[in-house]
Amino acid sequence: MSIPIFTDPEQAADLLRSGALVAFGTETVYGLGADARSDEAVAKIYSAKSRPMFNPLIAHVATLSAAEALIDLGAQGRALAETFWPGPLTLVGPLRDPEAVSGLVTAGLPTLAVRIPDNAMALKLLELVDAPVAAPSANPSGKLSPTTAMHVAQELGPEVAGVLDTGPCTVGLESTIISLEGAPTLLRHGGLPNEALEEVLGHALQTLEKAQTITAPGQLASHYAPRAGIRLNAMTAQPGEAHLGFGEVEGDLNLSPDADLTQAAKALFEALRRLDITGAGVIAVAPIPQIGLGRAINDRLQRAAAPRPDSLG
Ligand code: TXA
Ligand code: MG
Repeated sequence: MSIPIFTDPEQAADLLRSGALVAFGTETVYGLGADARSDEAVAKIYSAKSRPMFNPLIAHVATLSAAEALIDLGAQGRALAETFWPGPLTLVGPLRDPEAVSGLVTAGLPTLAVRIPDNAMALKLLELVDAPVAAPSANPSGKLSPTTAMHVAQELGPEVAGVLDTGPCTVGLESTIISLEGAPTLLRHGGLPNEALEEVLGHALQTLEKAQTITAPGQLASHYAPRAGIRLNAMTAQPGEAHLGFGEVEGDLNLSPDADLTQAAKALFEALRRLDITGAGVIAVAPIPQIGLGRAINDRLQRAAAPRPDSLG
């Protein structure tokens, strides 16, 4: 039995308010939503995704005032929020009231990750629910993130009451995550390039040493993984490999023949899925320049290429 897909935000909001899980599209990837105030609803997210319980969730809201009611943004955080929200940016700040969300959302941390997504139907849904909605990417833990409603319906189980189909995601990579504890610090590369953030801040972002990054997202070394192995910086494919091209490196499928990183980001997860179902043992991926969105694309590819544990939880 597959998960029902619908296009009515009211129906999705009713289900969320009743404590059910509903997946919904955003500009980045599809999220698996639950009422962030309810322990019971949020617990279902961890179970549906087989997600390790120590990995906290992002609370999604419709307005800046709803975000500020949850966390203290500070002056720099507010400047980023005013410039980039709604958009592919998540801000992690001190949680004002520990009772405002279930402790399962923060995994017990004194901080909360908050985001306003840039998708009209998702915003309508959040307005109707009128409460923070906890939503990780709507994929089984460790797997490729979904960028269409069909991806979600095919890969998650009956714990999910429905999928609000908001169309294919326009950005295609998860949000960039910035911590506002101390100087703004990059926790995850994502759909908003560092350069844009640094222009607003007027200075470089801090980055975390690897050892400190336990709380951040796909900071688990293996993540975003297709079934096939991944080989990076491949100018050509070897026998038995599928080749994912970029720019002049043509490949079996090309992320962007014009070498446009925005187009490549949008196409990435779908392209990996398509090559994965060809049955190739390895997907060889052309080099992607390490600038702008290229950093987030390379981050996802490196995690997809990392040695895989038997289970992520
Ligand atoms: O684009 C996105 O961010 C998507 C859409 C659905 O909004 N969501 C998403 O969620 O990518 P998820 O759970 O796959 O990744 C969010 C990551 C978590 O893995 C977690 O490590 C990090 O955000 N995070 C959440 N709360 C945090 C906190 N208080 N401190 C540090 N990191 C946190
Ligand atoms: Mg994820």
